[in-house]
Amino acid sequence: MSGSPGEGDGNLGPLRAAWRARRGPTGEALLDADERVFFRQVLSTPCLEAVVRAEGPWLVTADGARILDFHGNSVHQLGHGHPAVVDAVVEALRTLPFCPRRYTNPWAVRLAERLVAALPGGIGAWKCLLLPSGSLAVGAALKLARYATGRSGVVAFEGSFHGAGLDAASVSGEPLFREGLGPLLPGVRFLPPPTRGTCRFGCRDAAHTGCTDALAELLARSPDVGALIAEPVRWTTVELPPEGYWQRVRAICDRFGVLLILDEIPSALARTGRLFPHEHFGIVPDVLLLGKGLGGGVWPQAAMLARAELDLVPDKAIGHYTHEKSPAGAAAALATLEVIEREDLCARAGRLGADLGARLEALRARHPLIATVRVIGLMLGIELRRPDGAPAPAVADRVLYGCLSRGLSFKIGGGHVLTLCPPITIGEAELDSAVAILDAALAEAAGGGEQ
Ligand SMILES: Cc1ncc(COP(=O)(O)O)c(C=O)c1O
Repeated sequence: MSGSPGEGDGNLGPLRAAWRARRGPTGEALLDADERVFFRQVLSTPCLEAVVRAEGPWLVTADGARILDFHGNSVHQLGHGHPAVVDAVVEALRTLPFCPRRYTNPWAVRLAERLVAALPGGIGAWKCLLLPSGSLAVGAALKLARYATGRSGVVAFEGSFHGAGLDAASVSGEPLFREGLGPLLPGVRFLPPPTRGTCRFGCRDAAHTGCTDALAELLARSPDVGALIAEPVRWTTVELPPEGYWQRVRAICDRFGVLLILDEIPSALARTGRLFPHEHFGIVPDVLLLGKGLGGGVWPQAAMLARAELDLVPDKAIGHYTHEKSPAGAAAALATLEVIEREDLCARAGRLGADLGARLEALRARHPLIATVRVIGLMLGIELRRPDGAPAPAVADRVLYGCLSRGLSFKIGGGHVLTLCPPITIGEAELDSAVAILDAALAEAAGGGEQ
């Protein structure tokens, strides 16, 4: 049996129990203590492991094991604890530990200027709101869309995830985060997500025109819809959209006056080989959401950027969070952007991703369980399928635990896709070890029974 729900690997299956039984004494004591005080929740407590140190691409467990972190919740483009980010945060904390609402500060202003300047038209064409988490940025975008369009309906995609808050869960199609909660936000319509593979509409052309036609038909009969929210690339399964898909969606949104909100919270900031993933698709959103790695993996920091014409409601609150203009968070983000530029991490992600992709393709030739290898920059998905073409979640779980026991951590998306998200600063030697570990774990898992 697989313990893997859609968004990640599960913490309730038998393989997790077996893994847990092999923890060292210090880790075991911390895991027990964690369970006594924290609420149990899927994908979290009971936890996988107790960690006491994180450095570059490495996590160090309470019992001293070193694990290459190819998961990192997508916050670690720069690796863990990049000194430039840590120093910037410490300096901000020593100087202005908190900025009360109604005041501003140089870190927040510089960050907003820098983010806005990275978009077409720059300052004057875009406005910014800083927020303490991605889920809150999603909520702010939904409010902004309602104020700006006067319409409360939203189109989102089946199987999507946009955050844990009730508003973000309302526009998330992934059942795990919606079921059993009672009424969510009304007016949300879900469409099948874009895929280059076989789709619900049976599209055969490269642009999957049937998928975008379905959107146009939905909008034509739903005048209450004011926004469409989506990840340009579904992150948890590295599901790439069909060629031309986003350009058609952009045109359809324009035709119906619907705001295009792109959630690039896990995927922006060099990860895909560009600063922003939408650049790959030749479109510009109306609202862009950033988070996760924006705080350099050190401080929680998110942002909502929107076209300046949407700055329409000075007498209303869109955010109003206590830690909205956090000096430490803004300092972390400024340092992160500087490192991305100075170390040319966009180019590095493209180069390392192409190299790793080629090596995973070589593994595919030897491991028939690998159906496809998907690559966008340094984010890679290995899709595991059985010989009859069905997804292979049980074997995905076995590969995960086989890798963990050899010192490599990653996430399972959609139950059967191994998603590899290494730091962009990772060295060649560590990538070599990761490929060797995957090779060994795939060989072992293929011989292990039910797939
Ligand atoms: C696509 C996407 N959007 C939004 C969020 C929410 O971000 P946060 O956890 O910072 O609230 C996540 C988090 O995993 C995400 O993957």
